[in-house]
Amino acid sequence: MSDPLTAVILAGGKGTRLRPLTDNVPKPMLPVLNRPFLDFLIERLVSVGVTKIILAVGYKPESLVERYGRGQGFGVEIDYTVEDSPLGTSGAVRAVLPQLTETFLVLNGDVVTSVDLRSMIDEHTNRREFATIAIHEEEDPSRFGIVQIDGEGYVLRFLEKPKGPRFPSRLVNSGVYVLEPEALRFVPDTGPSMFEIDLFPNMLRMNMQVHSYTWDGYFLDMGTAESYLALNRDFLSGKAPTWHEPASDIIEGKGVSVSPSAIVTGPTVLGPGSMIEDGATVEGSVLWNDVYIGRDARIRGAVIGSGVTIDAGARIDDGSILTNP
Ligand code: GDD
Ligand code: MG
Repeated sequence: MSDPLTAVILAGGKGTRLRPLTDNVPKPMLPVLNRPFLDFLIERLVSVGVTKIILAVGYKPESLVERYGRGQGFGVEIDYTVEDSPLGTSGAVRAVLPQLTETFLVLNGDVVTSVDLRSMIDEHTNRREFATIAIHEEEDPSRFGIVQIDGEGYVLRFLEKPKGPRFPSRLVNSGVYVLEPEALRFVPDTGPSMFEIDLFPNMLRMNMQVHSYTWDGYFLDMGTAESYLALNRDFLSGKAPTWHEPASDIIEGKGVSVSPSAIVTGPTVLGPGSMIEDGATVEGSVLWNDVYIGRDARIRGAVIGSGVTIDAGARIDDGSILTNP
């Protein structure tokens, strides 16, 4: 038996930047290669020995609870904390503190990383750190939480999404933390709080050390339509780590029908029940389930939501997102 290890996945955000895709589906449940994104995160955690996952949810939690239940079929115990109003990233974890008795993991529920979680946990444990956060370099750090560190990797400063044009560092918070339960003392018992702007900065103010684990590899935050498409593309090409053996860069769900005179070019995902009519072209796109593409329509670089009908001859271009109201 391996030691128990708990991970909290932060999955309560509204997914505002992915609207209208998130109008009916919470961000962690968006389909990637025809499966809910969260499947991949859960499987990855199980593969590194996580024995219990707490899903911190708030926005449209029903579909998550329905799919993941108590974790049957995923080889892990799954529990939930449901927020009536958002508690923020650290507030959500604070609410489940009674269940956290040992070193635990926290993950943003919308990131894919190749960070070596085992090695990160080992480093945290061996050095007897209180809090360790994974950080990596970004060309444009402005979308992220910027982290400044000293020569030994201790955090000097956090700057959540500062306005440029100059940044103190290009190292950013990867949204993966290893924590001791005691670290949660640095936010109020109740009410909203954020790791990024409350807990970690509070620790620094109290002269507590926050350690960083610098890594280099694949990182993607799927929180925008552009990056959601990029994630599908990277899974299909095998660029994103571990989860997909790329046999082809076109994936078809069950019951898909493609006319012999239609042209489908990868990287493309065709959701279950989708139908592509004569002479239509689909290129570099993600179709959810039961999408109908009419004759001679041309779809490129788009995300088409469930049940959408594209009229014959229509042109749908790069970056388009279409959903049924
Ligand atoms: N339970 C719960 N409650 N979850 C929340 C809440 C909340 O109130 N607010 C946000 N979350 C979840 C989101 O669902 C998401 O999975 C995660 O917390 C991060 O929130 P985002 O809204 O996606 O934040 P971000 O992408 O702008 O920035 C964060 O991630 C970056 C890395 O991708 C920050 O942690 C940055 O510092 C970091 O660099
Ligand atoms: Mg995000």
